[in-house]
Amino acid sequence: MLTDNHNRVINYLRLSVTDNCNMRCQYCMPAEGVAFSHNSELLSWDEMYLLAATFIELGITKIRITGGEPFVRKGLMDFLHRLATIKGLEEISITTNATLIGEHITDLKALGILNVNVSMDSLDKTRFNFITRRDYFDVVYSNLLQMLHSGFNVKINCVVMHGLNTDDILPFIDFAHEHNTAVRFLEEMPFNGHNKSFEKIEWDFLKIIDHIQTKFPQIQRMNDSASSTSENYTIQNRRGSFGVIPSFSRTFCGTCNRIRVSAKGELQTCLYTNESVAFKKLLQQHAQPDLIKPLILAAIDNRFKDGFEAEEKNEFKKSMSLIGG
Ligand code: GTP
Ligand code: 5AD
Ligand code: SF4
Repeated sequence: MLTDNHNRVINYLRLSVTDNCNMRCQYCMPAEGVAFSHNSELLSWDEMYLLAATFIELGITKIRITGGEPFVRKGLMDFLHRLATIKGLEEISITTNATLIGEHITDLKALGILNVNVSMDSLDKTRFNFITRRDYFDVVYSNLLQMLHSGFNVKINCVVMHGLNTDDILPFIDFAHEHNTAVRFLEEMPFNGHNKSFEKIEWDFLKIIDHIQTKFPQIQRMNDSASSTSENYTIQNRRGSFGVIPSFSRTFCGTCNRIRVSAKGELQTCLYTNESVAFKKLLQQHAQPDLIKPLILAAIDNRFKDGFEAEEKNEFKKSMSLIGG
């Protein structure tokens, strides 16, 4: 079992497979001039497999595949097939913008990868396309419905932005009821790659809950898992659920069970800090697990207590596509 210096069990790895994306969400990256990594800078699939297996040997039981957009990288499905064979790994899940997942739905289901979080910030086509700066609403909506009808455990992630999509909150609540699914409202974080930094946000999780309660006063807190980042609620006489993720308020750091590896193979022990270990070079030199494990253990033994402490020591706010969320 992996335990950090604050006595938190670490069993969840967020593995980014690419920093590239086919969208340009306003809160994630600038419209133009994004310098995505060259393929040769990324961990190869073999390197990623070896690294994942090493983490699993150390005690990781859950891996969430992130990006950028994971499905823009060729070979993802083959990698997932290999990953699924590693003993000790109990769960593989994916966070995606759902533009490219359509053709893989059957295969994912056969693999038992049913936990898919879909980034979707509006149910209004014009607004969706404005936020993402691309014209993918129809395909995302259709893939989302297909997954819901195929028995996937889908959670919709909606980043709430003042003056942009707060009118979507209640329609999303209706969508969750209609399709018996979960929608989660995320606080915006300053990881947009163009220094749109901010010290506070207008729509924090409390305001989002308040807003929902103006229409649905009867909300009931669900029993969340011990290290959940979301506070989840049901609404009386309605199906589905909604959640809020205080990603900017950082109320959940005390039970944080997760670490991250970027597509370039850098270990990041908190979303708000910078990377600590660069695995790519080591793996290119054919480093074996015995050499890698002490580096992972040392980094995990040196984590910040929370995202505020981490932020204090970190000047540069990257794009979320580099971090993987
Ligand atoms: P599951 O719990 O496995 O469903 O994953 P998740 O909800 O954490 O995954 P997802 O990729 O859907 O992440 C949703 C959002 O949660 C991210 O975009 C962040 O806003 C927030 N989040 C996830 N992990 C952290 C974290 O360690 N710190 C902070 N501050 N926010 C996080
Ligand atoms: N603030 C909050 N959430 C963000 N995401 C991407 N950028 C930001 C940001 N600046 C979300 C995406 C995706 C998740 C992994 O991270 O919407 O659902
Ligand atoms: Fe792409 Fe996700 Fe960033 Fe949007 S938030 S640009 S979908 S990586």
